[in-house]
Amino acid sequence: MLSTRSFKKMKKRGKKIVMITAYDYPSGKYAQLAGVDMILVGDSLGMVVLGYPNTLKVTMADIIHHTKATRRGATDTFIVADMPFMSYHVSLEETKKNAARLILEADANAVKLEGGSASRIEAIKAITDCEIPVVAHLGLTPQSINTFGGYVVQGKKDADSEKILQQARDIQDAGAFMLVLEGIPEKLGQQITKELKIPTIGIGAGRYCDGQVLVYHDILGMADFTPKFVKKYANLEKEIPQKLAKYVTEVRNLDFPASEHIYFPI
Ligand code: KIV
Repeated sequence: MLSTRSFKKMKKRGKKIVMITAYDYPSGKYAQLAGVDMILVGDSLGMVVLGYPNTLKVTMADIIHHTKATRRGATDTFIVADMPFMSYHVSLEETKKNAARLILEADANAVKLEGGSASRIEAIKAITDCEIPVVAHLGLTPQSINTFGGYVVQGKKDADSEKILQQARDIQDAGAFMLVLEGIPEKLGQQITKELKIPTIGIGAGRYCDGQVLVYHDILGMADFTPKFVKKYANLEKEIPQKLAKYVTEVRNLDFPASEHIYFPI
């Protein structure tokens, strides 16, 4: 299994880091079989698996349950578990306890949290001080949609991009070993990647990050909405109902089961 050290080395050598989200036994298994470098059990599970309109209602219990299942499918892959909304906002004590649960109960290798404000920096320091590796996340952070007023690209104005750059520096200084950059201009992604020693992983942040992450259901064409930065490698949203409809028709027409499907012919 790769480690935090491996990811640092990959950045140094210019080898792109491939991350994909997964949420359960089969997606973990397929991600590992595909040879990804790391898996994120993202709180995007709220939208693509649990059917919520956003990520805000995802709980610690949800992330623990889904990380455990993902681990059973991806026994040899580095797994990052997302810290849900409000699991790292109330106190440093609660933050550390929640991060520790993701490592001890769910078998994650690292945790991820969103934002770069002063209190987030304190949270990153507190968690890394417990010897728990932290992935930070800046830009269009989905847990902030209510303050952003929707899914809006961040860092377009000079002052905003300077703020994100400074937060990236603070995150590195606080001890995070990796930084996800989401929904920012390509130039800013490039600038942060060039300046930081820790690897950056982009999602809608252009071509120059040290790695890329996409949501499993987006890659496979199974999501309700496809953002512009996504490349669909399959169109399962169309194919799955077609295949299921074929089964429905065959049962109704007495085409299934056929003789070869009979478990115990007498
Ligand atoms: O929850 C998630 O899947 C994420 C990625 C999109 C980075 O945070």
